[in-house]
Amino acid sequence: MALPSDDVLKRTHHCGQLRLADSGKKVRLCGWVRSYRDHGGVVFVDLRDRDWITQVVFDLPADPHNQAEADRYAQARALRNEWVIAVSGAVRPRGKDRENPKLPTGQIEVLGESLTVLNRSDTVPFEPDEFTDVSEETRLRYRYIDLRRPEMMRALVLRHRICRTMRDVLDREGFIEVETPFLTKSTPEGARDFLVPSRLQQAAFYALPQSPQLFKQILMVAGLDRYYQIVRCFRDEDLRADRQPEFTQLDLEMSFCTEADVIAVTNKVLRAVCELAGKGFPQQVAVLSYHQAMEAYGCDRPDTRFGLLLHDVGDLLRPSEFKVFSDVLSAGGVVKALCAPGGGKKFTRKEIDAYVAYVTDLGGKGLAWCKVEAAAMTGGVAKFLPAQVQAPLRAKLQAGDGDLLVFLADQPATVNKCLAALRLRLAKDLALIDPVAMAWCWVMDFPLLEWSAEENRWTAMHHPFTSPQPADLDKLQTDPGAVRARAYDVICNGVELGGGSIRIHSPELQKQMFAVLGINEAEARERFGFLLDALRFGAPPHGGLALGLDRVVMLMTGGQSLRDVIAFPKTQRGTCPLTGAPSTVDPRQLAELDLKVIAPPP
Ligand code: AMO
Ligand code: AMP
Repeated sequence: MALPSDDVLKRTHHCGQLRLADSGKKVRLCGWVRSYRDHGGVVFVDLRDRDWITQVVFDLPADPHNQAEADRYAQARALRNEWVIAVSGAVRPRGKDRENPKLPTGQIEVLGESLTVLNRSDTVPFEPDEFTDVSEETRLRYRYIDLRRPEMMRALVLRHRICRTMRDVLDREGFIEVETPFLTKSTPEGARDFLVPSRLQQAAFYALPQSPQLFKQILMVAGLDRYYQIVRCFRDEDLRADRQPEFTQLDLEMSFCTEADVIAVTNKVLRAVCELAGKGFPQQVAVLSYHQAMEAYGCDRPDTRFGLLLHDVGDLLRPSEFKVFSDVLSAGGVVKALCAPGGGKKFTRKEIDAYVAYVTDLGGKGLAWCKVEAAAMTGGVAKFLPAQVQAPLRAKLQAGDGDLLVFLADQPATVNKCLAALRLRLAKDLALIDPVAMAWCWVMDFPLLEWSAEENRWTAMHHPFTSPQPADLDKLQTDPGAVRARAYDVICNGVELGGGSIRIHSPELQKQMFAVLGINEAEARERFGFLLDALRFGAPPHGGLALGLDRVVMLMTGGQSLRDVIAFPKTQRGTCPLTGAPSTVDPRQLAELDLKVIAPPP
């Protein structure tokens, strides 16, 4: 194929730009053939670029002896999907009966006067504008085709605009973007590290950062005052729809601040992002304590788009004759209930049994239920609930005729876990979720520590650099589980978008914290000596937060998977079908690193 002259590449417009008012203009467009229709005498081409689509028309030449026109027409008839072409011609109205109201350019077309084929395309494995039955693996393998789909392109463009908005807001607020190293030492954020062997120091490894946590704290010690970075983080953890092994954070840190300052700046960023994406953000964001969230929603990232609140009904049920409840209550457990509005009428016995099985699969010992009718409760455990129990129960759960009540008795952790999941499922089944709602909240006052039965020690709920609340400091040795952290998470529609904390800035308190976590002095020195040193040289009080950028973009596009807002994501198995990573390496590379693969793959 001959190389095109430079002139054909000089576009006057993009493919989504032309309108009726441009009629008569001579234009030049470049793009991909999205589709062609040969009507014998006229060829219609939908020309697509990043911007979207313009219809180009090639007419059968009026004068059969005009060789140039005949060639152009023949060339147009030979076009195939996804070929790359340059066209020039005049814009003309399509005429009322031929307009396409679905396209922004649907009132016009371009009469093709010159056509250059810039490149051909093999038959594509799937059409990029119809997301029909293509497997994720195929989409990722041919990602360059998948990304031609308009919703993918829109997501990438929105992602870019969101980043720019975030930078604008933070710039106005006096934040400085600083890059921190990727080849570094482990930062504990609760996942495994990706390790990179060092060639120059054999048997030594870098860790890719799980977050820039320690560097940003050190920047505060340096006096940078307000830092941010849109930064890649790496975590070797089991993947789900909302987790990727490498993902991006909007990471920020500020000096001389309180929780309220970090939350205020974050709200400004989120408000601007929502405005850009045309989503709602409240004037006043709801704030819940961890305790309130666990009580009412059973989890610390509540979906507040709907009610279906959990209620502790242990006290009310004490007089009931149901052995399951009384046994659990006397063993120090809890009984919680939720009222599914209309569920008593809507759900069949089979459907209720499916909810019981759902809860049992999650680790519950069963699920008690009854239906509410105008006069009394019926079915399931109703027979064990005397009238003096039913009346206050009805009042507490605000239950009415036709509702379904479910009860779970167990230790609080199990009850919360099962009912939190059941709540989400019931909300979907009862269509209680407004598809356009954006329900934001901050959750605060997290416990500083949680007991790990597996490791037989206290672990940090956020990370080991989070400050305890001053009022609880005296309990750090005596009752570590009761100490609250100066930590906060921001949640939207049940998705944890970000989290952060006020940090420990005293070297003594940081050492004390390591001790509570069972990290002895030698180990603390080895792993975090550089931080402990920095804290000794004038560390200001400081705190910050990180937003999961991919999750923010996913929420703004209304997508279901992080993979739809990341240009080149990994699969569930952590692979990149496009490049084939991860892959084996050349034995010479291993030799240089003094590494040996003990059990090569079969
Ligand atoms: P945290 O670990 O809570 O905090 O991470 C902050 C936010 O990053 C997002 N996120 C992820 N997104 C996609 N894939 C993942 N695997 C993944 N893991 C986390 C979430 C999460 O809320 N250094 C602290 C922040 C701080 O204290 O300032 C940190 O990294 O949206
Ligand atoms: P069982 O006595 O195990 O046959 O259970 C009787 C009923 O109580 C069944 O409907 C179970 O689903 C339910 N059930 C059992 N254990 C619990 C529990 N811990 N909390 C709530 N309901 C339960």
